Amino acid sequence: MNAKPSVLALISLCAAFPILAADPPAAAASKLVIHADEGKITISKNIYGQFSEHLGRCIYGGIWVGEDSKIPNTRGIRNDVVAALKGIKVPVLRWPGGCFADEYHWRDGIGPRAQRPKMINTHWGGVTEDNAFGTHEFMDFCEQIGAEPCICGNVGSGTVQEMMEWVEYMTSDADSPMANLRRKNGRDQPWKVPYFAVGNESWGCGGNMRPEFYADNFKRYNTFVKNYRGNRIYRVACGASDSNYNWTEVLMSNAARQMNGLSLHYYSLPIQTWNGSKGSATDFKEDQWFSTLSHSLRMEEFVTKHSAIMDQYDPQKRVGLIVDEWGAWYDVEPGTNPGFLFQQNTVRDALVAGANLNIFNNHAERVKMANIAQMINVLQSMILTDQEKMLLTPTYHVFEMYTVHQEATLLPSEMQSADYTFGSQKIPAVNASASRDPAGKIHVSLCNLNPNAPAEVACELQGATAKRLSGRVLTGTEMNARNTFAQPDAVKPAAFTAFKTTATGFTATLPAKSVVVLEVE
Ligand code: AHR
Repeated sequence: MNAKPSVLALISLCAAFPILAADPPAAAASKLVIHADEGKITISKNIYGQFSEHLGRCIYGGIWVGEDSKIPNTRGIRNDVVAALKGIKVPVLRWPGGCFADEYHWRDGIGPRAQRPKMINTHWGGVTEDNAFGTHEFMDFCEQIGAEPCICGNVGSGTVQEMMEWVEYMTSDADSPMANLRRKNGRDQPWKVPYFAVGNESWGCGGNMRPEFYADNFKRYNTFVKNYRGNRIYRVACGASDSNYNWTEVLMSNAARQMNGLSLHYYSLPIQTWNGSKGSATDFKEDQWFSTLSHSLRMEEFVTKHSAIMDQYDPQKRVGLIVDEWGAWYDVEPGTNPGFLFQQNTVRDALVAGANLNIFNNHAERVKMANIAQMINVLQSMILTDQEKMLLTPTYHVFEMYTVHQEATLLPSEMQSADYTFGSQKIPAVNASASRDPAGKIHVSLCNLNPNAPAEVACELQGATAKRLSGRVLTGTEMNARNTFAQPDAVKPAAFTAFKTTATGFTATLPAKSVVVLEVE
């Protein structure tokens, strides 16, 4: 006979074996040690850089609407977008590509707009590019948002002379042919161009070169990238993609002396393939949540291994690792031009952003710039637009929350994370980075990648006392929570209070699938 146990018997059973109670078992706490007394390295603000390519609706529609547009603009540039970007303190902006850079001829983008020649954007949808947005418009945009320009020069289909003259056009204050042409086009003073990249993906869309051939070309083109009076250029050589360590080895052994930075590109895809479906940006289950984030965490491995090769040739760490393309890459939104790379952005992307930025912060000694791909309407964007409408993505909010790390002192830290297990695979559930700002405040950014359970973090603060804590959190109801034009504020930061100070630091309970930034005073 099946007799029901009495209520009293049940209560005593639960007290003796609390794990049998209805709540899921609490995961073991993750342990974070922050060495608040050991900070030596500054986190370059340029780690929070952006990338804007002539691709889809990034430039046209996203930034540039033209002076006659009914969308409020300043000299053709959207006012709403400029105001939003000021909120994330964009330090540096890479332009005009990407693959587009190696087919871009800068002279087509200057002078009266009606007379500018048109071209076909062969990489991105085969659309006609009318060159309405050229050097003057880009520099104006940088000035409006307060960012420094990082110009990517054309090695693949451009000449040395063309590159040389572009630099002269932008930066010379002399009585020189190119400076005078610039003056004729309405700009008297030269611009500052602090960063110049000599080619893009020269192993692929930028010319399909061998590293040895590119290394020679880099040196040749770079020789003619001149420092005109008052402008000093930080020269970025085209670097590897993913785990192409041979490329880094060849570039460092042949041309380290001539470069200031060497790039690295790495995108995280749910299904890591370039031939076929990569996975949807919004319609996914936990398998693709897990795969996207676990692929994203490989950035740690790539940065570590490329840095180790650079260390052999440059132990002083003079040459920066410039991660000038990174982010999540999904299938385009259904019904949109496949060449436009337009994708939505969810809480999953917030975690991709938060985790990658933690990695870059923690490698700040070598990583001197990173540029998420891309700023508006393309890949992992900050902003999406639809005609006059604009929304801020979860990724935007992470960049805004992390602005506290820009130019702060990195505080070395070690994380012993609980696991996030999916099927037979596991990744660390929690990652973090910490810094001290010039006012002495400590900021700790934490990501809980586990979409199913909160994460307890016990933090030991060595060399500092946590007197007062405050925080903000970004999360969503679902893994694919996102902002839409109908509900633009569905995912946005909120106050975070699930923390306690302890004798040695603090503890915090991060909600499932969340990015948290704490301020410790
Ligand atoms: O960001 C999109 C494209 O990805 C860039 O144009 C290219 O450099 C990379 O392959």
